[in-house]
Amino acid sequence: MRSDRLLEDIKSRLDIIEVISDYVELKKSGQNYKANCPFHSEKTPSFMVSPGKQIFHCFGCGAGGDIFGFVMKYENLNFNETLKFLAKKAGIKLSVYRLEGDSPEKKEKLYAIQKEALNTFIENLKQSKTACSYLAKRGVSEEMIQAFSLGYANKEWKALYEHLKAKGFEDSLIPQSGLVFTGEKGIYDIFRNRLIFPIFNIQGDAVAFGGRAIDDSMPKYLNSPETPLFKKGETLYALNMAKDEIRKKDYVTIVEGYLDVIMCHQHGFKNAVAPLGTALTTGHLQKLGRFTKKVLLVFDGDAAGVSAAKRSIAILYEQGFRGKVLLLPEGDDPDSFLRKTGSSAFRSEMGKAMSMVDFILNLKGERADNIRTAIEIIDNTRDLILREELFRELSEKSGVRESVIRGETKKYRQGPKIRTATAGPRPHEFLFNEDLLLLSAIVSFPGHAPYIFENLNIESIRTPLVKKIFKEIQPSADKLNMNVMLDLLDDDGKSLITRLSLNPGFDVEQVDKNITDCLKKITHYEMEERIKEAKKSGDIRLLNKLLLEKQKIIRRKDDRTE
Ligand code: UTP
Ligand code: MN
Repeated sequence: MRSDRLLEDIKSRLDIIEVISDYVELKKSGQNYKANCPFHSEKTPSFMVSPGKQIFHCFGCGAGGDIFGFVMKYENLNFNETLKFLAKKAGIKLSVYRLEGDSPEKKEKLYAIQKEALNTFIENLKQSKTACSYLAKRGVSEEMIQAFSLGYANKEWKALYEHLKAKGFEDSLIPQSGLVFTGEKGIYDIFRNRLIFPIFNIQGDAVAFGGRAIDDSMPKYLNSPETPLFKKGETLYALNMAKDEIRKKDYVTIVEGYLDVIMCHQHGFKNAVAPLGTALTTGHLQKLGRFTKKVLLVFDGDAAGVSAAKRSIAILYEQGFRGKVLLLPEGDDPDSFLRKTGSSAFRSEMGKAMSMVDFILNLKGERADNIRTAIEIIDNTRDLILREELFRELSEKSGVRESVIRGETKKYRQGPKIRTATAGPRPHEFLFNEDLLLLSAIVSFPGHAPYIFENLNIESIRTPLVKKIFKEIQPSADKLNMNVMLDLLDDDGKSLITRLSLNPGFDVEQVDKNITDCLKKITHYEMEERIKEAKKSGDIRLLNKLLLEKQKIIRRKDDRTE
């Protein structure tokens, strides 16, 4: 298992109220604290933190967990990174503990390799007239070259590889850095004679590189392959530099290319980021979500740009973001536009950015199709308040009555193809009360878990999520507590148990009665099902046996309560 002792040490030294207060303003409310949820946009607070239970739960979006869960989600860290982060906060020296799991030593070495490469590329650039004059030709300022740590990969085939070896990195590890490839005749550098755009994670560590050809070699851009440090679909170029400005302005400008980002920053638009040659993904938005939920998409006004904008805007709304679209004159990207016209012209273009509804209604093609596209996007929006606003806007701008628009949604909802995997119904929509209350009893009184599991056939639990949770916690029934449960469960499970912890749904004084009643009801239901089956199959003997058993069970359960 994971570093349990460290975990316990951290928890004993940190208070969830203090930790969360660093991120959101908590207001006291009864025994608990509340705030607007940092994980979804809302106007009235449904995010609760319990100092007694050391957990948080959002009654709006369902997010829930302990300090680890909170920090992981908010800071976008993996478990080991969160351990380190919180250990530091708690003033605990990590060297005392042996960290297990995701082989942190290997990752540390891979980070060291990226850093070594970064420094090498930066040095190279200083020595290369060709590369410097290319940058000058593209109008990149000295300040930006430094701020973005731009570099250059030499022409030689193995310069970086040899350098890394000389620095003591092993042959077994270097290929995993994504900086070299293994050919028939040995190992070679991937980046040669290219201008280098280092790609950093949010914490500012170099994790990958993009390289632009400065002659006519192909491809024009080359990116590091995915490595343990680098996931393309979750990385946005320059987010590490733009994050404060994004938070401050409460929106992010998303452009398409490296140079677009750099030119935006050079002209004072410091909230600009770009995906890395891929379409916008939900992974990107998860990274952005803690800084803002508003996006300005800037695309070239050509057909490719428009269709990319359409795809991106649909994902935005599906993920609870809102977005506007700025289409630049055909053939221009932010880089060329800014260099041609300067920052004030760009700013005034931004002022003309279209709302999502305007953008969709103005697409080429049949007006009715566009209206349906807009309905589909709005229908997929998870934020219910936003949905209301958008339906109103769509109705006003299209001239179609809201009732008609809503009629269309229902139609869409019946068709399975519109449903996306992420926008599925919330788990608690399927809850059966007795299952839920039984789980709730365990959450509030973990000591009762062994008794409950002894008297329960988990297979007869009808609520899929509760059944799954029971299966996961049953093996630990005799040592359950909130920490153990949070550790065993996935996000849906965490969400449900933190909710029940704050809001048990039964009178805690009556817990024993509650448990017997629920067990009785579940067993009763199970028996009814079996009786139904027996009737259907016409098996009279089985039927009689079951009816007898049913009587017995009823009597036994009654005995216990007396
Ligand atoms: P563009 O082809 O629009 O190039 O690619 P650009 O950004 O305008 O580049 P310049 O101005 O010609 O230098 C946009 C982005 O798509 C990715 C890169 O991230 C690039 O910045 N891309 C493009 C690739 O990954 N590979 C390619 O071959 C081309
Ligand atoms: Mn360009």
